[in-house]
Amino acid sequence: MKILGLETSCDETAAAIVEDGVKILSSTIASSSEFHEKYGGIVPEIAARQQVKVVIPVISEALISPVEEIDTIAVTIGPGLIGSLLIGVETAKVLAWAWQKPLVPVNHLIGHVYGNFVAEVQNAKCKSQRIEFPAVVLIVSGGHTELVLIEDHGKLKWLGGTRDDAAGEAFDKVARILGLGFPGGPAIEKAALSGDPIAFNFPRPLIYEDGFDFSFSGLKTAVFRKVAPVKKEPLSSGSFTPADKAGAGTTSQEIADLSASFQQAVIDCLIHKTLKVAKKYQVKSILLAGGVAANQKLRAAMELVIKKNLPSTLYFQPSLKYCTDNAAMIASAAYFNFRPVPFEKIKAESNLPLF
Ligand code: KG4
Ligand code: ZN
Repeated sequence: MKILGLETSCDETAAAIVEDGVKILSSTIASSSEFHEKYGGIVPEIAARQQVKVVIPVISEALISPVEEIDTIAVTIGPGLIGSLLIGVETAKVLAWAWQKPLVPVNHLIGHVYGNFVAEVQNAKCKSQRIEFPAVVLIVSGGHTELVLIEDHGKLKWLGGTRDDAAGEAFDKVARILGLGFPGGPAIEKAALSGDPIAFNFPRPLIYEDGFDFSFSGLKTAVFRKVAPVKKEPLSSGSFTPADKAGAGTTSQEIADLSASFQQAVIDCLIHKTLKVAKKYQVKSILLAGGVAANQKLRAAMELVIKKNLPSTLYFQPSLKYCTDNAAMIASAAYFNFRPVPFEKIKAESNLPLF
């Protein structure tokens, strides 16, 4: 079965064709990231306007098979920025109507999980067949940090999540504080390469508490206190103005050390809780998903810790390109959770819950 997936939940516009949920036949991604850079974060209005501009060219590029060979259309309906979501959802409805194809609505976060099932190579099938249930997935994206138990496709149980900032959000905010630009994750990762992860002893919030929750807001504030000796307090809203970034006198080595120490603290929290779930539920597979899963330090550390502590547990991480937003994961999620809905009943939902 060939599914055309569409993803427009944030600043990426993506379309892909995936065969049988695993084999990527085409995948096109356009990003408006550069237009948001100077604002230090995504501007929803700009993101939506870019979506409108590129959605049709992106679909045309991905559409390498004749329309008659496409069996189904899948589209992200939320969570995400409403202006961006609407472009993808309404475009998908028009295509489903015009081409007379079934339309499957997909939750963006569930989509991220399926970044683990897709591959561009011939052995895509082997990869998905190796994922055994029950599995635990750590979803770490810009807006979410969730630990979810997967008993089977469509049979999920939420176990814990962040009580405040998501891991990706913390990366983005700390990068802003350090003057490293946007998006923050890759920028922090790069700066951390020349830094010392134990130079600053940042807190590991909630790490020894019961349960599977996370908290990254205090960690962000701890970094802020190290770089802004004059203006110590963040705004009452909890955010920071661009002027607060990288306090005068912070050397590039200190920025590297702050990045490395912050990154290590986040990684320690993520790995600790994921392992705790894996042990408690005796899972057969551990999956990493979402934009932060592109972090090489996290990927390597997770793999190492699992090998050492749970050697018989399988470990999966999406290939780098399919960690951040893409449409192949959406098409795959639709294949393994095949529930078409009449297009007139489908609507974009900015705060769509996980399930
Ligand atoms: O999944 P995603 O592309 O979009 C959302 O669904 O939110 O995730 C974006 C997030 C951003 O916060 C970005 O800074 C973070 O993923 N990210 C990273 C890396 N690449 C992207 N965080 C840490 N290290 C990275 N290499
Ligand atoms: Zn995402």
